[in-house]
Amino acid sequence: MSVILKNDAEIDKMRIAGRLASEVLDFIAPQVKQGVSTGKLNDLCHAYMVGVQGTVPAPLNYAPPGYKPFPKSICTSVNHQVCHGIPGERVLKQGDILNIDITVIKDGFHGDSSRMFHIGEPGIQARRLVDVTYECMWRGIARVRPGAQLGDVGATIQAHAEQHGFSVVREFCGHGIGRKFHEEPQVLHYGKPGTGLRLEPGMIFTIEPMINAGKAGIRELADGWTIVTKDHSLSAQWEHTVLVTGTGYEVLTVSAGAPPPRSHGA
Ligand code: MF3
Ligand code: CO
Ligand code: CO
Repeated sequence: MSVILKNDAEIDKMRIAGRLASEVLDFIAPQVKQGVSTGKLNDLCHAYMVGVQGTVPAPLNYAPPGYKPFPKSICTSVNHQVCHGIPGERVLKQGDILNIDITVIKDGFHGDSSRMFHIGEPGIQARRLVDVTYECMWRGIARVRPGAQLGDVGATIQAHAEQHGFSVVREFCGHGIGRKFHEEPQVLHYGKPGTGLRLEPGMIFTIEPMINAGKAGIRELADGWTIVTKDHSLSAQWEHTVLVTGTGYEVLTVSAGAPPPRSHGA
């Protein structure tokens, strides 16, 4: 088992899948508001993916070893939910923060991206957590280039989160992606510079830091999927699918409505 390098034809297909994943987020963004249920957001996204895009929602019935099949087409994680929230009856209310994670399959290839949304006016801590998590993702992305190591990516993310008094979830990580939803390598969002896999052109993986306002500890709910913070503190996550190019990186999960890249100091 090892990292699968993608050739030019495969990269073209990954660009298409990546754009389509991002376009689902563009499509659903105007519907994310007070009073809507996460189940409704799922149903709208499902219809758009299947009926308009001709994509397959990768989460639906996804069942990695040790998991029961995921029952919905998108993941919706609210407030202290870290990731893998199952859409349902829950109605969004003023002040909630929500992660929507979209993975589509087009022509056999996966595109995977998630964004955060504020419902109404954000609280001060929620705004800061969401913004810092976005910066964490972009600082990680900015480290991606041939010859760099995955530890450089993780260390950058960890340093920025901890500088702001936040913590990095350890149990879930970014991942290689292509014909499979989750491939090698594992992309940890913490670590030490100068360690880990050395990056090469043609590698494609996600960077998707999960950052908690409180302690890093998590637990899984009885539904077998939803991950929440142990201390009930807020959690945020952003995700892009990224290609290692000859000189740096290319973000594949981009579209007209994607939030602009964040400038970063380091
Ligand atoms: N999209 C998630 C990721 O970024 C994985 C979701 S698995 C599911 O890796 F089954 F919950 F959809
Ligand atoms: Co992912
Ligand atoms: Co995802």
